[in-house]
Amino acid sequence: MTGAWLITGAHGQLGRALAAVCAARGREHEGRDLDTLDIRDRGVVADWIAAARPAAVINCAAFTAVDDCERAEEMATAVNGTAVGHLAAACNRVGALLVQLSTDYVFAGDRDRPYREDDPTGPRSAYGRSKLRGEELARTAERHLVVRTAWLYGRDGRNFVEAIRAQLASGAARLRVVADQRGCPTFADDLALAIADLIESGAGGTFHAVNAGDTTWHGFAAEIVRLLGSAAEVEPVSTAAFPRPAARPAFSVLDCTRLRQTLGRPLPAWEDGLRRYLEAPCGS
Ligand SMILES: NC(=O)c1ccc[n+]([C@@H]2O[C@H](COP(=O)([O-])OP(=O)(O)OC[C@H]3O[C@@H](n4cnc5c(N)ncnc54)[C@H](OP(=O)(O)O)[C@@H]3O)[C@@H](O)[C@H]2O)c1
Repeated sequence: MTGAWLITGAHGQLGRALAAVCAARGREHEGRDLDTLDIRDRGVVADWIAAARPAAVINCAAFTAVDDCERAEEMATAVNGTAVGHLAAACNRVGALLVQLSTDYVFAGDRDRPYREDDPTGPRSAYGRSKLRGEELARTAERHLVVRTAWLYGRDGRNFVEAIRAQLASGAARLRVVADQRGCPTFADDLALAIADLIESGAGGTFHAVNAGDTTWHGFAAEIVRLLGSAAEVEPVSTAAFPRPAARPAFSVLDCTRLRQTLGRPLPAWEDGLRRYLEAPCGS
């Protein structure tokens, strides 16, 4: 495939990881973030894409503060929903592929087997509703990929791993972590590689992409504590013990069979991704 890849939300966890993959592969790319390109601005988005005539636009920009979305649903819908329509229209004008990142939060999270791409959606939060609108608008791009991921952590990001690390650094000897929500922790570096391979494969449509295996937030925290060599105790607690503005899916394990068949490989196990993330020096 010839032509550059444009990356929105380029300062975010996934945006940075994708830029690193592009650089490693010698792929021409240009990243923009809120300081240089607000995806809500239809005219600026149209001009940028028309001038660059890219092969692909990878939309990593999003309003990702899940609890804040509850009291700012209009803003969440503008960024995570409506703006995706601007990107899709601009991609259609130059024949570019639109890659839209989405989330396990589009599902209700009330079942007991992993969600497949064509399972019914049923978001329980403003964030989930806004991301579902983004999916719908991404599908108006003649060439599109909708990639649903979950429990993402990446370099220099605000994420669960860093939250646990910070608690340990502040001397906490006992952490209380929710043990009744199950999902798939996913390392942005692994996701970025899978997205690049998906684009290069020429595939289209909707894909689930998470690291292999699943756990609870408690299990995730226990593994972080273990890998950091801490003796802190990790106490399992229920979701009810931590009331939050936005409802979280109790079960949001994603079935990645379609991705595995398309790429000929699964993403690495979540424990393996976490180990590589923690082994890298901060800021690398
Ligand atoms: N993080 C997760 O656990 C998770 C799980 C499932 C799916 N996802 C999806 O995966 C994608 C990447 O997530 P991530 O964790 O890499 O996100 P992130 O680290 O929060 O990065 C998102 C970036 O988008 C920027 N942004 C916000 N509003 C914008 C706008 N109007 N125009 C342009 N840029 C804007 C943000 O800037 P500011 O920081 O200045 O706001 C930030 O740099 C998103 O689509 C997200 O919904 C994430």
